[in-house]
Amino acid sequence: MCGIVGYTGPRQVSRILVEGLKRLEYRGYDSAGIAVQKDVAQAGEPITLIKKTGKIAELRKAVPKDLPGHCGIGHTRWATHGVVNDVNAHPHLDGSGKIAIVHNGIIENYVALKEMLEKEGTVFRSDTDSEVIAHLISYHYDGDLELAVKASLKHLKGTYGIACIHADEPGRIVGARNGSPLVIGVGDGEMLLASDVTAMLAHTKRVVYLNDGEVVSMLPHEFKVSDGDDRVLDPKIDHVAWELGAIEKEGYSCYMEKEIFEQPDSIARALSGRMDFEYGSSKLGGLDLTKKELHAIERVRVIAAGTSWHAGLVGCQLMESVARLPATAELASELRYRNPVVEPNSVYFAVSQSGETADTLYAMREIQRRGSTVLGICNVVGSTIARESAGGVYVHSGPEIAVASTKAFTSQLAAFYLLALLFARMHDMSHHEGVEFLGRLKDVPDLVRGALAQRDTIQAIAKKYSHAKDFLFLGRGLLYPIALEGALKLKEISYVHAEGYASGEIKHGPIALVSPDTPSLFLVPNDYLREKTISNMKEIKARGGPVIAVADEGDELVASIADDYIPVPRTHALFQPFTMVPPLQLFAYFIALELGRDVDQPRNLAKSVTVE
Ligand code: G6P
Repeated sequence: MCGIVGYTGPRQVSRILVEGLKRLEYRGYDSAGIAVQKDVAQAGEPITLIKKTGKIAELRKAVPKDLPGHCGIGHTRWATHGVVNDVNAHPHLDGSGKIAIVHNGIIENYVALKEMLEKEGTVFRSDTDSEVIAHLISYHYDGDLELAVKASLKHLKGTYGIACIHADEPGRIVGARNGSPLVIGVGDGEMLLASDVTAMLAHTKRVVYLNDGEVVSMLPHEFKVSDGDDRVLDPKIDHVAWELGAIEKEGYSCYMEKEIFEQPDSIARALSGRMDFEYGSSKLGGLDLTKKELHAIERVRVIAAGTSWHAGLVGCQLMESVARLPATAELASELRYRNPVVEPNSVYFAVSQSGETADTLYAMREIQRRGSTVLGICNVVGSTIARESAGGVYVHSGPEIAVASTKAFTSQLAAFYLLALLFARMHDMSHHEGVEFLGRLKDVPDLVRGALAQRDTIQAIAKKYSHAKDFLFLGRGLLYPIALEGALKLKEISYVHAEGYASGEIKHGPIALVSPDTPSLFLVPNDYLREKTISNMKEIKARGGPVIAVADEGDELVASIADDYIPVPRTHALFQPFTMVPPLQLFAYFIALELGRDVDQPRNLAKSVTVE
């Protein structure tokens, strides 16, 4: 949600900023801009400011190729306050034009601050909450940008990741964090500051993750981090494991397509080193819980948003059916304000690809405040949720760039299968059953590969139905959350209305929607729920509704009832979420392509939503 990048060093800054913003575009893409310090001797406006509505490509066109300057900041925006236009785009300048700031987050008391500053004679140019920060820093500035930033922060209420420069302090960038991520990139004679490591991966893998309340002041050869009480800290430098290739499209037409087809590998990574065949269990050292603590757990709660919530819904069904632990998954945005009862001996899992989703983070803090342990299931190493949780499981999907989550979802599922096995083996599951479970789990990457091999069939079916305005996605049991996920994917990237529903529930209302223009996509389980699902399919057919079925290969009966059939590799019913979700991801992808949508950056969305 909004991306920040800053650079100070010997190289031409404008190129590095535009290239960094391109890498961050998935965080927000309604407008973008850069502010570059002029070399001291230059006359005219002290800071070069270039802002453009639209994607980074528009900004790139507007930035002169030979723009001089070696220190600057950039921003890609996902609007919260103020419409999308050039003026509201970041960076924002103070009245003198000497201070430029970029901001992620929301300043909740900006109206009061604006009124105060206007009384002092400040003229505001934009409708944003962020501009107030530039003027506030200017108000406090007395020759030292770091001090002015610190003085200003005392007045800000809300969330922020900020980067700023001052024309009179060449080479210096000051950044501050409270609720919106900021990472320092430590280079060789150059420093970077960004909201996300992907913006700096081309330049350095040595990073420092800022904590809330910390301020960084950097020059090309040095940086200083201090806390809210002005104590200078000695932060740890981490090494980012991601390779640059992982954030390239590598021959695919878009990131989403690449990430869908990466799933056999990303799932294998999530499982790697964690399957313990000797004991028929899983090894999840990152949980950081003793055997005694694990044994004491009586119920599991999941908090998450969006696709991660769907993974949590599957995870909770597994906890119940495999590990016999009561489990529920809740939307983080609901839980936080509900005054939740936190039962003793519960463990909470905060599930988040980015590890930065504000709803999930705040819900997690609420639960921690009430004394319960929260573990993280995250993809991004060093993210806020990962750092603030007591322990957890990294899913190791590698960077996920497309806004619609795909490979992170299946890796989150893999983590839940490992967790369910771990708990099951501590209770009712035998060694033999554990080994059998692991044998099936080990096959999952191949099963997913097999499901993805249906690409051409799925593309043809997507083409056939691309005119439809509404879809129903239907599943039962473990496949109900997969139906929700399929519907969400379609909504997100094609803007076509889709509803995910439990197939047994359609007769209680949604069947009224069925018509020849409303296709129903069924996920057919291969256990005792198969026949019931087939009955539901017939109910739709009897009312003239087209039926698309995803079912095991060789299911002749389903093939004969459905108008269109997507066969997937046969597996045990417990593992069907893995074979069913890739076709749904591809279905959404091909419909979006047919409709000419921007698959990687769908309208109105952001990948990492750091505001509530
Ligand atoms: C946003 C994204 C979704 C994502 C959700 C949760 O809404 O657009 O794709 O599922 O956030 O994100 P998280 O990073 O917490 O998994």
